[in-house]
Amino acid sequence: MGTPLTLLGIESSCDDTGAAVVRGTPGAAQVLSSEVQGQAELHAAFGGVVPEIAARAHAEQLDQVVARALDSAGVTLQDIDAIAVTAGPGLIGGVLSGVMCAKGLSVATGKPLVGVNHLAGHALTPRLTDGTAFPYLMLLVSGGHCQFLLVHGPEQFTRLGGTIDDAPGEAFDKAARLLALPQPGGPGVEACAHDGDAKRFRLPRPLLDRPGCDMSFSGLKTALLRERDGLLQDNALRATDRADLCAAFQQAVVDVLREKTARALDLYLAEAPATPTIAVAGGVAANTPIRNALTALCAERGVQFTAPPLALCTDNGAMIAYAGLERFAAGQRDDMTLSARPRWPLDKTAPALLGSGKKGAKA
Ligand code: KG4
Ligand code: ZN
Repeated sequence: MGTPLTLLGIESSCDDTGAAVVRGTPGAAQVLSSEVQGQAELHAAFGGVVPEIAARAHAEQLDQVVARALDSAGVTLQDIDAIAVTAGPGLIGGVLSGVMCAKGLSVATGKPLVGVNHLAGHALTPRLTDGTAFPYLMLLVSGGHCQFLLVHGPEQFTRLGGTIDDAPGEAFDKAARLLALPQPGGPGVEACAHDGDAKRFRLPRPLLDRPGCDMSFSGLKTALLRERDGLLQDNALRATDRADLCAAFQQAVVDVLREKTARALDLYLAEAPATPTIAVAGGVAANTPIRNALTALCAERGVQFTAPPLALCTDNGAMIAYAGLERFAAGQRDDMTLSARPRWPLDKTAPALLGSGKKGAKA
């Protein structure tokens, strides 16, 4: 299986500064440490991530987060075989901060540099957590990403579809804002939906009437707004109204994700994979009704379902270290010409996705 490699990974593409140490071989690696410094309080007053604030905070935090990751892994830079860093896609200032930090460490130590696609980091996480064999189907659902990927190899991805506008996490966040629930909105909407009646309001299931795996979530929040304003004409929102609106909204997202996943699964199973597996990643994968719907679908179709622990589903340095390990083990290296890329689709043959969410350009 080759000699175990030790990679430092650095992530700074959005609003989490991450650094981690991962050791092992492709498909058999361990997280020795993973440190994430969030920035939620810096952006809270603005209702979304402010790129300039994020970039400055990354530049200020990176050294300390890297030092903490090395410390808690019990290693020094001398023990590291290579330094992996997110080189895109994401908010350009943040990505640049990470790339500059990694280049500095590489020059200072003489250790090789490996640029990593942030989306590849998410997409390869099931290999880190479960040693999942290629090819598998990945559903990436977060505040900034939404796509189905067939993962054939560390750098071989086919995008089967994705959102044409908002990412689902973004839709949860906007729904929360409309209902005066706290940000990020997903957990609050889920909790509020718990006692709600999902059938009281009939929200649309966008794009279900069209073939393929593309999705759309922006119309849902407009429909929610309309229902909310209808209620507000008579009275202030009552707790039951809010719960019913949340339940209706969440059920619409569940229905869309379930149906589109079923379609993506058909395309994947047509390739006759030896151990069919669906993996999810991204913050929205924390949603219990969404997980339950996907688990039930997989059980019906005889497919394994894998959801990495939440800390590895959301943005983190370990996924970057691991994706870097896969590249490095395959002999890939970068040099000082490595540049930060705001857009960097994993599947260069797929048409570009539309839209640009609160967390920056979608790849
Ligand atoms: O992956 P993540 O931490 O950051 C990026 O977007 O990259 O995902 C955060 C998103 C937020 O939009 C948040 O509202 C959503 O994930 N989220 C959830 C839940 N927990 C977090 N959405 C629905 N249900 C949840 N329980
Ligand atoms: Zn991400």
